[in-house]
Amino acid sequence: MAKQKQLKEKIKSITTFSEKNPHPLLCVTGDGTVVYANPSGKALLQDWHCDIGQFVPDYLRQLVMSTFQTRVIQRNIETKYGNQIFSFTIVPATNISYVNLYGVDITEHKRAEESLKYRIHFEMTVANISRRFTILKDFDDAITQSLADIGQLSKASRAYLFLFRDDGKIMDNTHEWCSEGVSSEIHHLQNLPTARFPWLMKSFQHMNIIQIPDVGKMPEEACAEKEEFERENIKSMLLLAIRIERELAGFIGFDNVVSPDTWRVEDINLLSITAEIVGNAIARKRIEDSLRMSESEHRLLLENIPMRIFYKDKNSVYIACNQNFARDLCMKPEEIIGKIDYDLFPKELANQCRANDREVIESGKRMDVEERYFKDGQEFIIHTIKVPIKNENGTIIGILGSSIDITEKVHLEREAVRSRHLVLLGELAAGVAHEINNPITGVINCAQILLNKSREGSMEKDLAGRIIKEGDRVATIVSKLLSFARPEEKKNIASVHEILYDTLILMRKQLEEDCIQMKLDIPKDLPEVFANSQKIQQVFMNIISNAGYALNQKYPGGHENKILEILGEKTAINRHSYVKVTFCDHGTGIPAEIKDKIINPFFTTKPHGKGTGLGLNISYKIITDHHGKLTIDSVEGEYTRVCITLPAKDYHESAIISEHIV
Ligand SMILES: Nc1ncnc2c1ncn2[C@@H]1O[C@H](COP(=O)(O)OP(=O)(O)OP(=O)(O)O)[C@@H](O)[C@H]1O
Ligand SMILES: [Mg+2]
Repeated sequence: MAKQKQLKEKIKSITTFSEKNPHPLLCVTGDGTVVYANPSGKALLQDWHCDIGQFVPDYLRQLVMSTFQTRVIQRNIETKYGNQIFSFTIVPATNISYVNLYGVDITEHKRAEESLKYRIHFEMTVANISRRFTILKDFDDAITQSLADIGQLSKASRAYLFLFRDDGKIMDNTHEWCSEGVSSEIHHLQNLPTARFPWLMKSFQHMNIIQIPDVGKMPEEACAEKEEFERENIKSMLLLAIRIERELAGFIGFDNVVSPDTWRVEDINLLSITAEIVGNAIARKRIEDSLRMSESEHRLLLENIPMRIFYKDKNSVYIACNQNFARDLCMKPEEIIGKIDYDLFPKELANQCRANDREVIESGKRMDVEERYFKDGQEFIIHTIKVPIKNENGTIIGILGSSIDITEKVHLEREAVRSRHLVLLGELAAGVAHEINNPITGVINCAQILLNKSREGSMEKDLAGRIIKEGDRVATIVSKLLSFARPEEKKNIASVHEILYDTLILMRKQLEEDCIQMKLDIPKDLPEVFANSQKIQQVFMNIISNAGYALNQKYPGGHENKILEILGEKTAINRHSYVKVTFCDHGTGIPAEIKDKIINPFFTTKPHGKGTGLGLNISYKIITDHHGKLTIDSVEGEYTRVCITLPAKDYHESAIISEHIV
């Protein structure tokens, strides 16, 4: 009895649980006939248009008939409250052919889940857009991609960007994304005067978000806009302002061409964030563009001034330089970066640069320096201005330098000084020579009388002989010096080829004796020159004799390198033709420190009695008088190259003078 009572109690409590349960509970037979439903279950049966004793809907019946284990299904059911989502747990009852169906209304839960998913998706899209603009590679591509992302996400038909220009007077549709099957409008929306859309512009003055749920119902004052939107077949739209420093710079728009619709507030908020990101990116791009523009203007300036510009940090490490600076070093500007002076210049110059840099950094003052160095035996003179560079706190962070090669300028100045000096010396020497000429003739004559009268083998005869010898030497020097004073001798049309061969005939014997090989390349058809042949011959003789002496010094006997090369060629300077004769010997060469002096009168390295030191000086004067040029290039121990350039005969004399060829 007690057991029966206990069982009754249990059944009662189960029944109470079922009846009071807010979720639908159904008990159906194995063929899908409903045998029991709690009140919520009954409500569901009503929505299914069935009752106890009838079949559950077909899809459920199929499931019931094929369910042998507990399983859970989800189903959308149209109820009197609208579309609801139910989760059904189907539990086959053991040993009897009943199946229990436990339903739970999960509509809210599902909606919350979907909204969360959507939001996560939305936020990921925003994050992607933001990242895209942070690691910006192609700005236009980033905008188009971002429009596609947000367009797809917000299920828009079109997403686009408009930017204003010309002080907001004109707007252009710069970027556009269209969903499949939706026509593109970008080409019709260029160069639009903003005055055509007064309602839109007025709205943007005080609103950042313009939502048009139904284009057909736009107000009267928006008739211009309405007409345009309808032309584009737009049913509803959302426009988000892009402001840069509070100024309206453009807007992002989303069209719906399917039906009038509204955007959810949370979507609008998220879309506004994307508009802000795009706005910031546009602002940054504009700043970058203008910086790039000003940078390229500066670069253009830097690359086109003849100066060499460089920038070093405070440790004298190169940070930047212009093309001219790099070109001098046969490098590219980017190869200079990170280098120090010791990597680029000879040690002596690098030391000098380093010391100057230190002084600029320590004193904080600008410095003007002339740096000299020799490279491949050639002298280079560079004028450099170094300025300290300070940061905003006034701390020196580097040095800006600009330098210019003044080698040629200095050489020209030196040349001018020297030629003035030579003219003065020449005049002086000629004056002195004139004064000496008569007395020395007297001295030699007197000594000759003494010589004739003195006894053979006597001391008098020996002394008289010496006086005559030394007197002759003085007479030779005097006659050479007098050539300065002599009025310019007559010039005729002459062939350099002939002058040179005549000279060689005179000198051949001596050259052969000295075992000097001659390598000649003097074309017969060299242009003729207007010259005094004897004077030019004198020049050639002196140069050949200097070369011979230098070769003999280096190779006292014969040697395979004991060669004197003479090359004649036609050349042009400023479109005028010249004849250039180059004498090159591989003798002793000229030490760099005396190179400047060798043209000076009486400068000689030959032992006493062997040379007067007038040869080059006179040659220089002769060539100058012929409006030509004499240059000497030499590396000690290696070679000496003497170049003589004479204007060809057709060169007009006045042109020669005006162009200062020497
Ligand atoms: N080809 C050369 N190789 C090496 N040194 C040279 C050469 N030509 C000239 N020199 C140097 O220039 C100096 C001056 O030359 P220059 O012709 O004026 O006088 P010189 O030859 O010494 O004397 P002179 O010409 O009166 O015999 C020479 O003493 C020599 O040191
Ligand atoms: Mg000489």
